[in-house]
Parts: sequence; C-alpha cells; structure tokens
Amino acid sequence: MDLYLKGKTAVVTGASQGIGRAITKELANEGVTVLAIGRNADLLHSLKEEIITAKGAAPVLLIQDFLEPDAPQKIAATAIEKLGWVDILINNAGRSQPIEVTGSEEVWKAAMTLDFERPRQLTEALLPHFMERKQGAILNLASSYELRSINGSAVAKAAIVSWSKALSAQLGPYGIRVNSLQPGLIDTENIRRFFTSEERKKFAEAEIPLGDFGHAEDMANMAVFLVSPRAGYITGTVSVVDGGMKHYPF
Ligand SMILES: NC(=O)c1ccc[n+]([C@@H]2O[C@H](COP(=O)([O-])OP(=O)(O)OC[C@H]3O[C@@H](n4cnc5c(N)ncnc54)[C@H](OP(=O)(O)O)[C@@H]3O)[C@@H](O)[C@H]2O)c1
Repeated sequence: MDLYLKGKTAVVTGASQGIGRAITKELANEGVTVLAIGRNADLLHSLKEEIITAKGAAPVLLIQDFLEPDAPQKIAATAIEKLGWVDILINNAGRSQPIEVTGSEEVWKAAMTLDFERPRQLTEALLPHFMERKQGAILNLASSYELRSINGSAVAKAAIVSWSKALSAQLGPYGIRVNSLQPGLIDTENIRRFFTSEERKKFAEAEIPLGDFGHAEDMANMAVFLVSPRAGYITGTVSVVDGGMKHYPF
C-alpha cells in the first residue's frame, strides 16, 4: 500500500535507538527526510549509514540533549533551516522512571520535563509553521497508566494523552492531526533493564496473549501509518500496540 509519504519531511526525537530509531528507518524507507535527534552521536551516525545502505531518504542528524531548556526552540529552528518545511512531528524521546512513593522533587521534575514539558514545548515551537501551512501530523508516544507502581514517565505520558486530545480539537480546523501511540512492553533498552530473559518469558506467558514483548518495528508500522495521509481522518486517538497485554507490570 502506498502511504503517500514520499517527499515529506519529519522531526523525530529519540531517534538514536529503540522505537524512535525504527520509526526513523521506516519513514526513510517511505521517502521521508527525517531530522533525527538524540544525544548519542555514534548511534545516530550508524542509523544514517543503515538508511543510506537501504536506499532510504538520508536523514539530517541533530545531536541534542532534549532536557536543555532551549532544546525545543533549537530543534524547531534547525528543522525549518535544514528541511525547509515540516510535515510530521513525532515526540518519541522518553525514559521509564520508576519513583518511590515519596520520590524526590528532582527525579519527578526530570521525568515530567523529558516526557511532557519538552514534547509540548517542541510542538508549540512548530505550531505556527503547521498552522500557516494548514497541515501537519503530530504523534506523541504515550505509555500505559494502569501500572502497579509509580512511574514518572507514565504520569507524564498521561498528561501527554490528555493534552493531545485537547490539542486535536483545537487544530482540526487547521488540517492538523494529533494522535497518541501507546506501547505495551516493547523490547528496547528502556525496558530490557527491568527484566531478565527468564522473567520476560514468565511474564509474557502469563500476561501477553500474543506470547512475547513487541519489537520496535511493531510500533514503527503503526506510527508511520498514523502520520501518513492514509490516516487523514484519524485524530485525537490513542492507538495501543501491546499484544493484548492483560495486566501491566511494575
Ligand atoms: N519500550 C517500551 O515498552 C515502552 C513502554 C512505554 C512507553 N515507551 C515510550 O516510548 C518511547 C521510546 O522508548 P524506547 O523504548 O524506544 O526507549 P529507548 O530505546 O531507551 O530510546 C529512548 C530514546 O530517547 C532518547 N532520549 C532519552 N533521553 C534523552 C534526552 N535527555 N535528550 C535527547 N534524547 C533523549 C534516547 O536518545 P539518546 O540516548 O541518544 O539521547 C533514545 O533515542 C519513550 O517515550 C518511552 O517512554 C516505551
């Protein structure tokens, strides 16, 4: 199926590994030029090489710590300068952050900043551009909020989902779509550190009807569809990709 993405441009945060890397590769395969952002320069350079070898659209790399206060403005300015225009924004950078019941303010603040404030600020920095062009597709990576313990990232993502829905109502008249994408347990560095392979197997057998953790590519398939013109009537939604998971861990 042609997703009608060829020649478009995208900004992807957290592109160096995991879900963001898979999304960047899939977009590039579809002919999208991506501004690929992360802190790990080696991983970003290897991503670019892999894409070029696979004859995808060569990404533009930006080494940037998203926690820096001026990161959203820098990313938006670089995107317009290097890409010319932006069709798609994927707010993917994030990190699971388990927190004690009486967690420190510092840890809470870091989680809320990375997983809610910066994606909101980056979106707002690009909104005048999207509104002027009367088009745009924004996708925000979410998380399950039905956890058994407190996770700063999941709380921030609950805010993302609420904000995304409201934003979609405001931006619909401008032809701008805003959706959220909620992973279950996807086999990336973010999650791997919490499970031994034995624990993963045991958990998946008990809780995941499809039998195992998902792959980053499972998320990328849905992400690329949601930001494509094929999803032109889809906005304000939360799509869940979780293998049918019954109960969430942690
Ligand atoms: N995997 C799952 O099961 C799961 C579950 C729930 C939610 N999620 C969400 O899905 C998204 C992708 O997660 P993932 O599993 O693919 O994680 P991952 O493999 O750990 O990748 C996280 C990405 O975010 C970037 N990042 C983290 N902190 C950053 C910072 N300060 N500045 C710039 N970039 C930063 C990392 O890049 P650098 O290290 O290069 O900076 C990396 O590219 C996240 O928002 C996560 O919360 C994932």
